[in-house]
Amino acid sequence: MGFDTSDDACVYKITDEIAAIHTVDFFTPVVDDPYQFGQVAAANALSDVYAMGGKPAIAMNLLCVPNCLSKETIRMILKGGHDKAVEAGCTIAGGHTIQDPEPKYGLCVTGYVHPDKVLKNVGAKPGDLLVLTKPIGTGVITTAAKADMVEPEDYQAVLKCMAELNSYAAEIILKYPDIHACTDITGFGLLGHAYEMAAGSNATLKLFSKKIPLLHGAKELASMGLIPAGAYRNMDYVRPHLELLPSAEETLVDLISDPQTSGGLLVSLPAEDAKKLLKDLTVLSLPCAIIGEVLEKQETDLIIE
Ligand code: CO
Ligand code: CO
Repeated sequence: MGFDTSDDACVYKITDEIAAIHTVDFFTPVVDDPYQFGQVAAANALSDVYAMGGKPAIAMNLLCVPNCLSKETIRMILKGGHDKAVEAGCTIAGGHTIQDPEPKYGLCVTGYVHPDKVLKNVGAKPGDLLVLTKPIGTGVITTAAKADMVEPEDYQAVLKCMAELNSYAAEIILKYPDIHACTDITGFGLLGHAYEMAAGSNATLKLFSKKIPLLHGAKELASMGLIPAGAYRNMDYVRPHLELLPSAEETLVDLISDPQTSGGLLVSLPAEDAKKLLKDLTVLSLPCAIIGEVLEKQETDLIIE
């Protein structure tokens, strides 16, 4: 599987039983604490393997550090990544470090999946419902946190959300044999990833903006105009393919465009299964919801109500 539908990772069939999944992700710190940064970066990098229906097996560190960073800080970044990988049952088997004025960290991950059980980001069918497994708003909150505008408990909640592995949701989702499409929500925001799912599935996705779970504090901050630049880029990209119904509140549309770090899984599956899945997902510590439906192809790929 390759580039044609912007899927989450590369999948390479090795035998009739095993396909390898390859993905790489690294970025600049989204949080101040080095240990938490390591955890979030690793959870984010591992996520694409889960989005393909696979399990991570082995990973390599990618680390860029300025001269001024202490050995202890570097150790804590790597420990954060290591601890997340251990939680995921994935071995970190080395890596590479270079000097760089701005720190960056992430993982190159290899996972595996049965070739017949690969989940793709396309294949959504009319009649499906869309399930999202994490709340959104990480971009808005981490941006506001840089200006010290986030309540401490809201900040702890966003950290917990970004560091949460998608493995727990994926394990439950994989019990359903008829998953039509699956992707994880990252930099393109719910908007961009839903658009790609719609366009690649030759269907229209309708998002129920009021049903989308939000991180606490995100709506208030967004309504104050604390929207990261990436949200506008996402909206500019998708706007020609989007119909906004009058019921769609502007602040919620901004949050739907908000670039996510280590966001949840977006899954398209038959309506009856989606309702059962949602019940099963209540065991998770983060709120999940049915946030939209799949329609026959309309004039636009995406509708927000
Ligand atoms: Co992805
Ligand atoms: Co990725």
